[in-house]
Amino acid sequence: MKAETLIRSSIAAVVAASLGASALAQNAPTVFPGDADGAFVVGTKFSEPDGAHLFKRVCAGCHMPDAKGAKGAGFFPALAGNKKLAANGYPVYVVLKGMNGMPPVGAMMTDQQVADVVNYVRTNFGNKYRDAVKPADVQALR
Ligand code: HEC
Repeated sequence: MKAETLIRSSIAAVVAASLGASALAQNAPTVFPGDADGAFVVGTKFSEPDGAHLFKRVCAGCHMPDAKGAKGAGFFPALAGNKKLAANGYPVYVVLKGMNGMPPVGAMMTDQQVADVVNYVRTNFGNKYRDAVKPADVQALR
C-alpha cells in the first residue's frame, strides 16, 4: 500500500470511530453532575429509590451535597434553610418546569419521585416543613 493510501485509510478509520462515538453519546442517557455513586437512568426516568438518592443524584451537582448552593461560574441558590420552600408547590413547580439555569429535571421523574425529592429537601438541610407533597399534587402542576 502506498503511503498516501495508508494515511487516507487511517483518517477514514479515525473519522468512522469518532462518528461512532458521537452516535453513542447521543444515545446516552442524560447525565447530571454529581453522578458519582454509580446510579443510572433507565429509559427516560431516574431509577433512584427515594428522595435522598434522587437529591444526591440529580440536585447535589448544582445545589451541592449540603444544599448550601454555590457561587462562581454560575449561581446555584441554597436549598438549605431556604424560606421559599415554605410553600410546597413552589419547589414542585421549579423541579417540573425548570428555572433559568435549572433544567426541568422533573420531566424525567415520576410524580412519586418529584414528591419524594421535594419532601426530602423540605425536611432536611435545616428545613422543617412537614406538609408533605403528594404525587397527586405533582400531577396537578405538570
Ligand atoms: C443543572 C443545575 C441544577 C440542577 C441539576 C438542579 N438545580 Fe435547582 N436551581 C438551579 C439554578 C441555577 C437555580 C436558580 C435559578 C434562578 O434563580 O434563576 C435553581 C433553583 C432552584 C429552586 C428555587 C430556589 C429559590 O430560592 O428560588 C429550587 C427549589 C430548586 N432549584 C430545587 C432543585 C431540586 C429539588 C433539584 C433536584 C431535583 C434541582 N433543583 C436540580 C440549578 C439546578
